[in-house]
Amino acid sequence: MFKKYILKFILAVFFIFSLGCGQGESQNPRLVIAIDATFIPMSFLNDRGELDGFEVDLIKAVAKNAGFDYELVNVEWGGLFGGVITKKFDLVISSITILEERKNRMAFSIPYLQSGVAVLVRKDIQDVDDLEKLAEIKATVGAQINTTSYYFLQKYEGIKIKTYEKFGHAVIDLANEGNDAVVGDSVQVNYYFNKNKELSQNTRFLGSRLTSEYYGIVLRKENLELKQKIDASLTKLLENGTVQKIHDKWNLGEFAVVPLPE
Ligand code: ARG
Repeated sequence: MFKKYILKFILAVFFIFSLGCGQGESQNPRLVIAIDATFIPMSFLNDRGELDGFEVDLIKAVAKNAGFDYELVNVEWGGLFGGVITKKFDLVISSITILEERKNRMAFSIPYLQSGVAVLVRKDIQDVDDLEKLAEIKATVGAQINTTSYYFLQKYEGIKIKTYEKFGHAVIDLANEGNDAVVGDSVQVNYYFNKNKELSQNTRFLGSRLTSEYYGIVLRKENLELKQKIDASLTKLLENGTVQKIHDKWNLGEFAVVPLPE
């Protein structure tokens, strides 16, 4: 009789103890990851209203490999860098080109994708085959503000740069003849060109990729341990073909290339 009670007591203690353990559960750090959902097919909201795309698949694979829990938050382009620096979130993945100037303020992972800028020009503007010519005729060219496309355009004196908060707005404006041409990351330019009938009918490409740029995941400079973990996971996923598989799934084609790990 007494033994029975002791047994019950021990079982109860175990039960309560295991509950307690359950609550602390995973030892994994929980990271807040920001992503701009206006960059199809890299990141966007799908029909169910969930974040989807190449970079969403990639960051999920990285998180799984590195063993951290995470939360994805949708943040517009203009808020990404400030937010990571002021610790609103820990990581950003949003087709962000690794630039020396940006490295002064933030850290980057190793590159996960090689891309570049591409230009769409209105067909009714004749004899234009390059940016020099667009500058000569003093064309109005659209780009998303503070992107490599915008910096690229600044090199051409004569071009009137029209800036947009969202890349999609620049192409809509092009379709409505609000500008003469648009510069953007090659993957997006190609996506809109194929998807939008007016664009495919009324514009043409000036070469599929005019520059070579590398995308990296952004984090705070002091997060050295996190950077190491992310770089190690990216190296694995680049080497074992996972990144290439995701590239194939989203049909990035010739517009972006999966690099070899450094
Ligand atoms: N790759 C370009 C840059 O880093 C454009 C990035 C724009 N990304 C975005 N999610 N809107 O400047």
